[in-house]
Amino acid sequence: MASKSKTVYLCDECGYESPKWLGRCTSCGAWNTLRERKISVSPSGSSPERKLTSATDVVRLSKVTAGSEERISCKIGELDRVLGGGLVVGSLVLVGGDPGIGKSTLLLQTAQKMSEEADILYVSGEESEKQIKMRADRLDGDKCDIDLYCETDIDKILAAAEKVKPDVMIIDSIQTVYSEDISSVPGSITQVRECCMMLMKYAKQSGTAVFIVGHVTKEGTIAGPRILEHMVDCVLYFEGERHHSYRVLRAVKNRFGSTNEIGVFEMEGDGLHEVENPSSALLMGRPKDAPGSAVVCTVEGSRPILAEVQALASPAGYGNPRRMGTGIDYNRMTMLLAIAEKRLGLNLQNLDIYINAAGGLKITEPAADLAIITAVYSAVSGKPIPGDMAAIGETGLTGEIRNVNQTDKRISELAKMGFKRCIVPGGSKLEKKNGAELLFADNLADVIRLCFGGKKEGKA
Ligand SMILES: Nc1ncnc2c1ncn2[C@@H]1O[C@H](COP(=O)(O)OP(=O)(O)O)[C@@H](O)[C@H]1O
Ligand SMILES: [Mg+2]
Repeated sequence: MASKSKTVYLCDECGYESPKWLGRCTSCGAWNTLRERKISVSPSGSSPERKLTSATDVVRLSKVTAGSEERISCKIGELDRVLGGGLVVGSLVLVGGDPGIGKSTLLLQTAQKMSEEADILYVSGEESEKQIKMRADRLDGDKCDIDLYCETDIDKILAAAEKVKPDVMIIDSIQTVYSEDISSVPGSITQVRECCMMLMKYAKQSGTAVFIVGHVTKEGTIAGPRILEHMVDCVLYFEGERHHSYRVLRAVKNRFGSTNEIGVFEMEGDGLHEVENPSSALLMGRPKDAPGSAVVCTVEGSRPILAEVQALASPAGYGNPRRMGTGIDYNRMTMLLAIAEKRLGLNLQNLDIYINAAGGLKITEPAADLAIITAVYSAVSGKPIPGDMAAIGETGLTGEIRNVNQTDKRISELAKMGFKRCIVPGGSKLEKKNGAELLFADNLADVIRLCFGGKKEGKA
Protein backbone atom coordinates (compact mmCIF):
# COMPACT_ATOMS: atom_id res chain seq x y z
CA MET A 1 0.00 0.00 0.00
CA ALA A 2 1.28 3.44 -0.86
CA SER A 3 1.77 5.63 2.16
CA LYS A 4 0.09 9.03 2.23
CA SER A 5 1.82 12.16 3.37
CA LYS A 6 0.39 14.84 5.57
CA THR A 7 1.50 18.32 6.41
CA VAL A 8 2.40 19.38 9.92
CA TYR A 9 4.04 22.52 11.24
CA LEU A 10 7.11 22.27 13.48
CA CYS A 11 8.50 25.04 15.65
CA ASP A 12 12.16 25.87 14.94
CA GLU A 13 12.73 26.94 18.50
CA CYS A 14 11.30 24.09 20.53
CA GLY A 15 10.23 21.40 18.07
CA TYR A 16 6.51 21.76 18.92
CA GLU A 17 4.26 20.09 16.35
CA SER A 18 1.01 21.67 15.26
CA PRO A 19 -1.52 20.47 12.66
CA LYS A 20 -2.05 24.03 11.38
CA TRP A 21 0.12 27.07 10.94
CA LEU A 22 0.27 29.46 13.86
CA GLY A 23 1.85 32.89 14.08
CA ARG A 24 3.01 32.21 17.58
CA CYS A 25 4.13 28.85 18.95
CA THR A 26 1.80 27.84 21.77
CA SER A 27 4.57 25.87 23.45
CA CYS A 28 7.48 28.30 23.66
CA GLY A 29 5.76 31.54 22.72
CA ALA A 30 8.17 32.41 19.89
CA TRP A 31 6.78 34.34 16.93
CA ASN A 32 6.87 33.17 13.33
CA THR A 33 8.88 30.01 13.97
CA LEU A 34 6.49 27.35 12.64
CA ARG A 35 7.63 25.71 9.40
CA GLU A 36 5.78 23.38 7.11
CA ARG A 37 6.90 19.76 7.03
CA LYS A 38 5.57 16.76 5.08
CA ILE A 39 5.52 13.48 6.93
CA SER A 40 4.35 10.11 5.67
CA VAL A 41 1.53 8.37 7.47
CA SER A 42 0.23 4.85 7.14
CA PRO A 43 -2.96 4.65 5.04
CA SER A 44 -5.10 3.19 7.78
CA GLY A 45 -5.10 6.44 9.72
CA SER A 46 -3.07 7.99 12.44
CA SER A 47 -2.02 4.83 14.26
CA PRO A 48 0.05 2.41 12.21
CA GLU A 49 -0.99 -1.23 12.22
CA ARG A 50 0.89 -3.13 14.83
CA LYS A 51 2.36 -6.24 13.32
CA LEU A 52 5.11 -8.33 14.77
CA THR A 53 7.37 -9.09 11.82
CA SER A 54 8.51 -12.38 13.24
CA ALA A 55 8.44 -14.03 16.61
CA THR A 56 12.24 -14.18 16.68
CA ASP A 57 12.48 -10.41 17.14
CA VAL A 58 11.96 -10.94 20.84
CA VAL A 59 14.91 -12.60 22.48
CA ARG A 60 15.78 -13.82 25.92
CA LEU A 61 18.50 -11.76 27.57
CA SER A 62 20.26 -14.93 28.70
CA LYS A 63 20.47 -16.10 25.07
CA VAL A 64 22.20 -12.94 23.88
CA THR A 65 25.92 -13.34 23.44
CA ALA A 66 27.69 -10.11 24.07
CA GLY A 67 31.27 -9.55 23.07
CA SER A 68 32.97 -6.52 24.49
CA GLU A 69 32.59 -3.56 22.18
CA GLU A 70 35.29 -3.12 19.59
CA ARG A 71 37.39 -0.01 20.09
CA ILE A 72 39.96 1.85 18.09
CA SER A 73 42.50 4.18 19.59
CA CYS A 74 42.28 7.87 18.72
CA LYS A 75 46.07 8.12 19.14
CA ILE A 76 45.48 10.96 21.55
CA GLY A 77 45.69 9.55 25.06
CA GLU A 78 43.56 12.22 26.68
CA LEU A 79 40.74 11.72 24.17
CA ASP A 80 40.90 7.93 24.55
CA ARG A 81 40.67 8.34 28.30
CA VAL A 82 37.56 10.52 28.08
CA LEU A 83 35.91 8.09 25.66
CA GLY A 84 36.47 5.31 28.19
CA GLY A 85 39.47 3.65 26.53
CA GLY A 86 39.15 4.43 22.84
CA LEU A 87 36.53 5.11 20.20
CA VAL A 88 33.80 2.46 19.95
CA VAL A 89 33.18 1.26 16.42
CA GLY A 90 29.82 2.46 15.11
CA SER A 91 29.30 4.98 17.89
CA LEU A 92 28.07 8.53 17.54
CA VAL A 93 30.08 11.06 19.55
CA LEU A 94 28.98 14.65 20.00
CA VAL A 95 31.73 17.16 20.72
CA GLY A 96 30.18 20.36 22.03
CA GLY A 97 31.72 23.64 23.05
CA ASP A 98 31.69 27.39 22.61
CA PRO A 99 32.63 28.67 19.16
CA GLY A 100 36.39 29.15 18.87
CA ILE A 101 37.30 26.91 21.77
CA GLY A 102 39.15 24.41 19.56
CA LYS A 103 36.70 21.68 18.51
CA SER A 104 37.75 21.69 14.86
CA THR A 105 41.38 21.74 15.90
CA LEU A 106 40.92 18.76 18.21
CA LEU A 107 39.09 16.70 15.61
CA LEU A 108 41.39 17.56 12.73
CA GLN A 109 44.34 16.65 14.90
CA THR A 110 42.66 13.39 15.87
CA ALA A 111 41.94 12.68 12.21
CA GLN A 112 45.57 13.27 11.32
CA LYS A 113 46.83 11.00 14.06
CA MET A 114 44.31 8.26 13.29
CA SER A 115 44.83 8.42 9.55
CA GLU A 116 47.89 6.20 9.82
CA GLU A 117 45.69 3.25 10.68
CA ALA A 118 42.14 4.18 9.74
CA ASP A 119 40.29 5.79 6.85
CA ILE A 120 38.93 9.17 7.85
CA LEU A 121 36.33 11.31 6.12
CA TYR A 122 36.32 14.89 7.35
CA VAL A 123 33.18 16.75 6.34
CA SER A 124 33.24 20.47 6.87
CA GLY A 125 30.39 22.86 6.37
CA GLU A 126 32.26 25.75 7.91
CA GLU A 127 35.61 25.90 6.21
CA SER A 128 36.91 25.50 2.66
CA GLU A 129 39.40 22.81 1.63
CA LYS A 130 42.09 25.48 1.55
CA GLN A 131 41.38 26.61 5.09
CA ILE A 132 41.46 23.04 6.34
CA LYS A 133 44.70 22.38 4.52
CA MET A 134 46.23 25.48 6.09
CA ARG A 135 45.18 24.35 9.52
CA ALA A 136 46.36 20.80 8.87
CA ASP A 137 49.78 22.12 7.85
CA ARG A 138 49.95 24.21 10.98
CA LEU A 139 49.01 21.26 13.17
CA ASP A 140 50.96 18.32 11.95
CA GLY A 141 53.03 19.16 8.91
CA ASP A 142 52.30 17.03 5.88
CA LYS A 143 51.66 13.73 7.61
CA CYS A 144 47.95 14.14 7.10
CA ASP A 145 46.16 11.84 4.69
CA ILE A 146 42.44 12.11 5.13
CA ASP A 147 39.47 12.50 2.80
CA LEU A 148 37.94 15.96 2.82
CA TYR A 149 34.45 16.90 1.76
CA CYS A 150 33.12 20.42 2.06
CA GLU A 151 29.36 19.97 1.89
CA THR A 152 26.32 20.77 3.96
CA ASP A 153 23.59 18.67 2.32
CA ILE A 154 23.10 15.61 4.51
CA ASP A 155 22.00 13.39 1.60
CA LYS A 156 25.18 14.18 -0.34
CA ILE A 157 27.26 13.64 2.79
CA LEU A 158 25.75 10.23 3.43
CA ALA A 159 26.09 9.29 -0.23
CA ALA A 160 29.78 10.23 -0.08
CA ALA A 161 30.22 8.25 3.11
CA GLU A 162 28.63 5.20 1.53
CA LYS A 163 31.05 5.47 -1.38
CA VAL A 164 34.21 6.16 0.65
CA LYS A 165 33.30 3.76 3.49
CA PRO A 166 35.44 5.47 6.13
CA ASP A 167 36.23 3.98 9.54
CA VAL A 168 35.66 7.36 11.12
CA MET A 169 33.61 10.28 9.86
CA ILE A 170 33.77 13.79 11.30
CA ILE A 171 30.93 16.27 10.78
CA ASP A 172 31.94 19.88 11.45
CA SER A 173 29.42 21.13 12.43
CA ILE A 174 25.90 19.77 12.87
CA GLN A 175 24.50 23.32 12.80
CA THR A 176 25.58 23.80 9.19
CA VAL A 177 24.18 20.51 7.90
CA TYR A 178 20.67 20.45 6.47
CA SER A 179 18.19 18.13 4.83
CA GLU A 180 16.32 19.29 1.72
CA ASP A 181 13.16 17.57 2.92
CA ILE A 182 12.74 20.05 5.72
CA SER A 183 11.83 23.63 4.96
CA SER A 184 13.37 25.22 8.05
CA VAL A 185 16.78 26.88 8.00
CA PRO A 186 20.01 24.97 8.78
CA GLY A 187 20.78 25.11 12.47
CA SER A 188 17.13 25.07 13.54
CA ILE A 189 15.96 22.44 16.00
CA THR A 190 14.13 20.41 13.37
CA GLN A 191 17.08 20.36 10.97
CA VAL A 192 19.66 19.55 13.63
CA ARG A 193 17.55 16.78 15.11
CA GLU A 194 16.68 15.21 11.78
CA CYS A 195 20.27 15.28 10.49
CA CYS A 196 21.55 13.82 13.73
CA MET A 197 19.02 11.02 13.47
CA MET A 198 20.16 10.23 9.93
CA LEU A 199 23.79 10.20 11.02
CA MET A 200 22.96 7.88 13.88
CA LYS A 201 21.24 5.44 11.56
CA TYR A 202 24.23 5.57 9.25
CA ALA A 203 26.70 4.98 12.11
CA LYS A 204 24.79 1.97 13.45
CA GLN A 205 24.27 0.39 10.05
CA SER A 206 27.75 0.92 8.65
CA GLY A 207 29.84 0.53 11.80
CA THR A 208 31.51 3.86 11.08
CA ALA A 209 32.27 5.89 14.16
CA VAL A 210 30.93 9.42 13.71
CA PHE A 211 32.09 12.55 15.50
CA ILE A 212 29.64 15.44 15.38
CA VAL A 213 30.72 18.96 16.28
CA GLY A 214 28.03 21.06 17.92
CA HIS A 215 28.40 24.70 18.87
CA VAL A 216 26.93 25.67 22.18
CA THR A 217 24.96 28.74 21.33
CA LYS A 218 22.91 31.22 23.21
CA GLU A 219 19.59 29.71 24.12
CA GLY A 220 16.82 30.15 21.66
CA THR A 221 17.96 31.36 18.30
CA ILE A 222 19.84 28.33 17.04
CA ALA A 223 19.62 24.76 18.26
CA GLY A 224 22.50 23.82 20.50
CA PRO A 225 23.95 20.39 21.23
CA ARG A 226 21.73 19.91 24.29
CA ILE A 227 18.80 18.75 22.18
CA LEU A 228 20.98 16.00 20.72
CA GLU A 229 22.27 14.62 23.98
CA HIS A 230 19.69 11.87 24.26
CA MET A 231 20.28 10.63 20.71
CA VAL A 232 24.04 10.16 20.67
CA ASP A 233 26.22 7.58 22.43
CA CYS A 234 28.75 9.98 23.92
CA VAL A 235 28.61 13.66 24.68
CA LEU A 236 31.91 15.39 25.22
CA TYR A 237 32.19 19.06 26.11
CA PHE A 238 35.29 21.00 25.32
CA GLU A 239 35.65 23.80 27.83
CA GLY A 240 38.06 26.45 28.87
CA GLU A 241 38.43 30.16 29.11
CA ARG A 242 39.12 31.47 25.67
CA HIS A 243 41.96 33.63 26.93
CA HIS A 244 43.66 30.79 28.77
CA SER A 245 45.55 28.12 26.96
CA TYR A 246 44.17 25.19 28.98
CA ARG A 247 41.24 23.24 27.61
CA VAL A 248 39.36 20.51 29.40
CA LEU A 249 37.51 17.78 27.55
CA ARG A 250 34.77 16.36 29.72
CA ALA A 251 32.41 13.45 29.12
CA VAL A 252 28.88 14.26 30.24
CA LYS A 253 27.33 11.14 28.75
CA ASN A 254 28.98 7.91 27.73
CA ARG A 255 27.17 4.70 26.87
CA PHE A 256 30.48 2.83 26.89
CA GLY A 257 32.33 4.15 29.91
CA SER A 258 32.51 6.43 32.90
CA THR A 259 31.51 10.06 32.61
CA ASN A 260 33.88 11.22 35.28
CA GLU A 261 37.02 11.31 33.21
CA ILE A 262 38.50 14.48 31.85
CA GLY A 263 41.24 15.17 29.36
CA VAL A 264 43.45 18.20 29.68
CA PHE A 265 44.98 19.97 26.71
CA GLU A 266 46.96 23.09 26.11
CA MET A 267 46.28 25.20 23.03
CA GLU A 268 49.43 26.35 21.29
CA GLY A 269 50.30 27.70 17.86
CA ASP A 270 50.78 24.21 16.47
CA GLY A 271 47.58 22.83 17.92
CA LEU A 272 46.50 21.11 21.09
CA HIS A 273 49.03 19.41 23.30
CA GLU A 274 48.14 16.79 25.85
CA VAL A 275 48.88 17.79 29.42
CA GLU A 276 49.94 14.66 31.20
CA ASN A 277 50.61 16.28 34.55
CA PRO A 278 47.93 18.95 34.90
CA SER A 279 48.81 19.67 38.52
CA SER A 280 52.30 20.88 37.81
CA ALA A 281 51.12 22.80 34.77
CA LEU A 282 48.34 24.52 36.72
CA LEU A 283 50.54 25.37 39.69
CA MET A 284 53.32 26.78 37.55
CA GLY A 285 53.91 30.45 38.20
CA ARG A 286 52.14 30.38 41.55
CA PRO A 287 53.36 33.30 43.65
CA LYS A 288 55.32 32.45 46.79
CA ASP A 289 54.10 33.80 50.13
CA ALA A 290 51.44 35.95 48.54
CA PRO A 291 48.34 36.54 50.68
CA GLY A 292 45.15 35.24 49.08
CA SER A 293 46.64 32.26 47.26
CA ALA A 294 45.61 28.73 48.22
CA VAL A 295 45.93 25.34 46.58
CA VAL A 296 42.91 23.15 46.02
CA CYS A 297 42.92 19.48 45.09
CA THR A 298 39.91 18.44 43.03
CA VAL A 299 39.31 14.93 41.75
CA GLU A 300 38.07 14.60 38.21
CA GLY A 301 37.12 10.99 37.57
CA SER A 302 40.07 8.93 38.66
CA ARG A 303 42.40 11.86 38.49
CA PRO A 304 43.37 14.29 41.24
CA ILE A 305 44.22 17.75 39.95
CA LEU A 306 45.81 20.57 41.90
CA ALA A 307 44.95 24.13 41.08
CA GLU A 308 45.45 27.52 42.59
CA VAL A 309 42.59 29.57 43.99
CA GLN A 310 43.19 33.24 44.53
CA ALA A 311 41.17 35.69 46.54
CA LEU A 312 41.39 39.45 46.60
CA ALA A 313 39.72 41.76 49.06
CA SER A 314 39.58 45.47 48.34
CA PRO A 315 37.69 48.32 50.01
CA ALA A 316 34.18 48.61 48.62
CA GLY A 317 32.72 51.79 47.24
CA TYR A 318 29.15 52.84 47.92
CA GLY A 319 26.29 50.40 47.80
CA ASN A 320 26.55 46.65 48.02
CA PRO A 321 30.06 45.24 48.06
CA ARG A 322 30.92 43.22 44.95
CA ARG A 323 31.27 39.47 44.92
CA MET A 324 32.90 38.02 41.83
CA GLY A 325 33.96 34.47 41.18
CA THR A 326 35.71 33.10 38.10
CA GLY A 327 35.81 29.33 37.74
CA ILE A 328 33.76 28.74 40.87
CA ASP A 329 30.04 28.57 41.48
CA TYR A 330 28.68 31.97 42.50
CA ASN A 331 26.09 30.63 44.94
CA ARG A 332 28.58 28.37 46.67
CA MET A 333 30.99 31.29 46.89
CA THR A 334 28.49 33.64 48.55
CA MET A 335 27.54 30.87 50.97
CA LEU A 336 31.18 30.29 51.92
CA LEU A 337 31.68 34.02 52.43
CA ALA A 338 28.64 34.10 54.71
CA ILE A 339 29.97 31.15 56.70
CA ALA A 340 33.36 32.85 57.03
CA GLU A 341 31.71 36.04 58.27
CA LYS A 342 29.55 34.29 60.80
CA ARG A 343 31.85 31.54 62.06
CA LEU A 344 35.23 33.24 61.84
CA GLY A 345 34.09 36.75 62.66
CA LEU A 346 35.54 38.11 59.41
CA ASN A 347 34.16 41.50 58.54
CA LEU A 348 33.53 41.43 54.82
CA GLN A 349 30.75 44.01 54.65
CA ASN A 350 32.96 46.82 53.43
CA LEU A 351 35.07 44.70 51.13
CA ASP A 352 34.73 43.74 47.50
CA ILE A 353 35.75 40.08 47.20
CA TYR A 354 37.09 38.53 44.02
CA ILE A 355 37.83 34.83 43.79
CA ASN A 356 39.55 33.30 40.81
CA ALA A 357 40.44 29.71 39.95
CA ALA A 358 43.70 30.12 38.07
CA GLY A 359 44.36 28.50 34.70
CA GLY A 360 40.75 28.61 33.53
CA LEU A 361 39.74 25.56 35.59
CA LYS A 362 36.18 25.20 36.86
CA ILE A 363 35.98 24.14 40.48
CA THR A 364 32.70 22.47 41.33
CA GLU A 365 33.51 20.18 44.23
CA PRO A 366 32.63 21.00 47.84
CA ALA A 367 36.05 19.56 48.71
CA ALA A 368 37.45 22.92 47.64
CA ASP A 369 35.54 24.79 50.40
CA LEU A 370 38.46 24.96 52.81
CA ALA A 371 40.86 26.16 50.15
CA ILE A 372 38.46 28.96 49.20
CA ILE A 373 37.84 30.01 52.79
CA THR A 374 41.54 29.99 53.68
CA ALA A 375 42.28 32.02 50.54
CA VAL A 376 39.69 34.61 51.57
CA TYR A 377 40.94 34.68 55.16
CA SER A 378 44.48 35.10 53.90
CA ALA A 379 43.48 37.92 51.54
CA VAL A 380 41.58 39.76 54.26
CA SER A 381 44.17 39.30 56.99
CA GLY A 382 47.18 39.80 54.73
CA LYS A 383 48.82 36.65 56.10
CA PRO A 384 50.02 34.21 53.45
CA ILE A 385 49.19 30.51 53.67
CA PRO A 386 52.40 28.52 54.23
CA GLY A 387 53.71 27.41 50.83
CA ASP A 388 53.86 23.73 51.80
CA MET A 389 50.32 23.57 53.19
CA ALA A 390 46.99 22.74 51.64
CA ALA A 391 43.50 22.16 53.02
CA ILE A 392 40.93 19.61 51.89
CA GLY A 393 37.37 19.48 53.13
CA GLU A 394 33.80 20.60 52.84
CA THR A 395 32.33 23.03 55.31
CA GLY A 396 28.78 23.07 56.61
CA LEU A 397 26.72 26.08 57.63
CA THR A 398 27.71 25.77 61.27
CA GLY A 399 31.37 25.85 60.35
CA GLU A 400 31.91 22.13 60.85
CA ILE A 401 34.33 20.36 58.54
CA ARG A 402 32.95 17.40 56.65
CA ASN A 403 34.57 14.43 55.06
CA VAL A 404 35.07 14.35 51.34
CA ASN A 405 35.58 11.38 49.05
CA GLN A 406 38.95 10.09 47.87
CA THR A 407 40.92 11.99 50.50
CA ASP A 408 43.78 9.50 50.16
CA LYS A 409 44.17 10.20 46.50
CA ARG A 410 44.18 13.93 47.05
CA ILE A 411 46.80 13.76 49.77
CA SER A 412 49.05 11.56 47.62
CA GLU A 413 48.82 14.06 44.79
CA LEU A 414 49.64 16.92 47.17
CA ALA A 415 52.60 14.98 48.57
CA LYS A 416 53.78 14.22 45.05
CA MET A 417 53.76 17.91 44.23
CA GLY A 418 55.86 18.73 47.28
CA PHE A 419 53.24 19.68 49.88
CA LYS A 420 54.37 18.68 53.37
CA ARG A 421 51.32 19.49 55.48
CA CYS A 422 47.69 18.92 54.76
CA ILE A 423 44.64 19.98 56.74
CA VAL A 424 41.98 17.25 56.55
CA PRO A 425 38.54 16.74 58.14
CA GLY A 426 38.79 15.57 61.75
CA GLY A 427 36.39 12.74 61.05
CA SER A 428 38.40 11.24 58.22
CA LYS A 429 39.79 7.84 59.02
CA LEU A 430 43.26 8.21 57.66
CA GLU A 431 45.89 6.11 59.28
CA LYS A 432 48.96 6.33 57.21
CA LYS A 433 50.62 9.59 56.50
CA ASN A 434 50.58 9.25 52.76
CA GLY A 435 53.77 11.22 52.48
CA ALA A 436 52.38 14.44 53.97
CA GLU A 437 51.80 15.35 57.58
CA LEU A 438 48.09 15.33 58.37
CA LEU A 439 46.51 18.07 60.46
CA PHE A 440 42.99 17.24 61.58
CA ALA A 441 40.40 19.99 61.89
CA ASP A 442 36.84 19.69 63.22
CA ASN A 443 35.70 23.21 62.50
CA LEU A 444 36.73 26.35 60.69
CA ALA A 445 38.41 27.85 63.75
CA ASP A 446 40.72 24.80 63.84
CA VAL A 447 41.55 25.28 60.19
CA ILE A 448 42.47 28.93 60.66
CA ARG A 449 44.54 28.12 63.76
CA LEU A 450 46.42 25.36 61.94
CA CYS A 451 46.93 27.45 58.85
CA PHE A 452 47.77 30.85 60.26
CA GLY A 453 48.48 30.20 63.93
CA GLY A 454 51.79 28.51 63.22
CA LYS A 455 51.04 25.51 65.45
CA LYS A 456 51.56 22.03 64.14
CA GLU A 457 49.18 19.67 65.86
CA GLY A 458 49.08 16.60 63.70
CA LYS A 459 47.23 13.73 65.30
CA ALA A 460 48.72 11.20 62.91
N1 LIG B 1 47.07 30.50 13.18
C1 LIG B 1 46.81 30.18 14.43
N2 LIG B 1 47.80 30.14 15.35
C2 LIG B 1 47.55 29.82 16.61
N3 LIG B 1 46.36 29.51 17.09
C3 LIG B 1 45.33 29.51 16.26
C4 LIG B 1 45.49 29.84 14.90
N4 LIG B 1 44.29 29.76 14.30
C5 LIG B 1 43.43 29.40 15.27
N5 LIG B 1 44.05 29.25 16.43
C6 LIG B 1 43.44 28.85 17.71
O1 LIG B 1 42.43 27.93 17.47
C7 LIG B 1 41.19 28.41 18.00
C8 LIG B 1 40.05 28.08 17.05
O2 LIG B 1 39.89 26.75 17.09
P1 LIG B 1 38.76 26.03 16.27
O3 LIG B 1 39.17 24.61 16.32
O4 LIG B 1 38.55 26.66 14.96
O5 LIG B 1 37.50 26.27 17.19
P2 LIG B 1 36.04 25.72 17.01
O6 LIG B 1 36.06 24.71 15.93
O7 LIG B 1 35.71 25.17 18.36
O8 LIG B 1 35.19 26.90 16.69
C9 LIG B 1 41.35 29.88 18.14
O9 LIG B 1 40.58 30.37 19.22
C10 LIG B 1 42.82 30.04 18.38
O10 LIG B 1 43.07 29.94 19.77
MG1 LIG C 1 35.23 24.93 14.02
